[in-house]
Amino acid sequence: MTVRTALLQGTQLLEEGRVSAPRLTAEVLLSHAIRCDRSWLYAHDNEELREVWWIHFGRYLHERLQGKPTQYITKRQEFYGREFLVSPAVLIPRPETEHAVESALRRLPESPGTVVDVGTGSGAIAITIALESGARVQATDLSAEALAVAASNARKLGASVGFVQCDLLSAVRDSSVQLVVSNPPYIPEDDKSVTQREVLEFEPHLALFGGPDGMEIFRRLAVEAARVLRPGGWLIMEVAYNADRRVRDLLEPKWTNVQVETDLAGLPRVVSAQWPGPIGGGTP
Ligand SMILES: C[S@@+](CC[C@H](N)C(=O)[O-])C[C@H]1O[C@@H](n2cnc3c(N)ncnc32)[C@H](O)[C@@H]1O
Repeated sequence: MTVRTALLQGTQLLEEGRVSAPRLTAEVLLSHAIRCDRSWLYAHDNEELREVWWIHFGRYLHERLQGKPTQYITKRQEFYGREFLVSPAVLIPRPETEHAVESALRRLPESPGTVVDVGTGSGAIAITIALESGARVQATDLSAEALAVAASNARKLGASVGFVQCDLLSAVRDSSVQLVVSNPPYIPEDDKSVTQREVLEFEPHLALFGGPDGMEIFRRLAVEAARVLRPGGWLIMEVAYNADRRVRDLLEPKWTNVQVETDLAGLPRVVSAQWPGPIGGGTP
């Protein structure tokens, strides 16, 4: 069995199993089995597969056909040009979330104060902001397992981020935070039946569901962010493509500069707002 035949057979199996991007997936899984780059496959398509490669490739194909996302098989996902470790304890970072990072980076002044990433998961947002801006970054999550993955990513990528296990911002005592950023769980519990099977069966439910209407964490986070932000500080949240109106309505009575940013598909993706401080403030 050569590399070329293994790829053809793998692609066919994935196609029959209706896995999306079957050829690409077969290449990613085979290169993971061989522990090589995908480019190595092209240069060695007549190479005989060693038995151990074939065994690993077979197992990965089987797992993928059972619905396990490729990233949980390879334990990696690229985000903002860097490779992050992922495990089933964390949400696989999505490309759309890079918009929240960009929005945060744009709003940080030249000498940024503290930034807090709420619900950090793999640490993708917190670590990217720390590396791109040099800001002092703290990151929270309820899940100790997720925080362990995030801390490994910070070590691997050389980012200095303080991780704390807590509910939203409850452990943050600072009241002069520059910016709070979050990609919170926002799928309505009622949408369980329509959520993609792969997501529902393999990604952590704590990372997905935001109460009956998907708004629970937004409501609580708006209150908590107001407590920790300095006057003029920003709250930046990723939202479901159809929830921007509700999140704006939630913020508009008390926050200023409430803005919605769209993703590359033109869908609402990020809502940001500025905390005006005690004048005209109070709690939201
Ligand atoms: C949608 S995931 C986002 C993960 C990561 N920030 C990203 O964008 O890829 C939401 C994260 O929030 C965490 N989480 C859920 N409820 C939380 C809470 N009440 N307090 C802190 N973290 C929470 C979950 O464990 C999960 O890691």
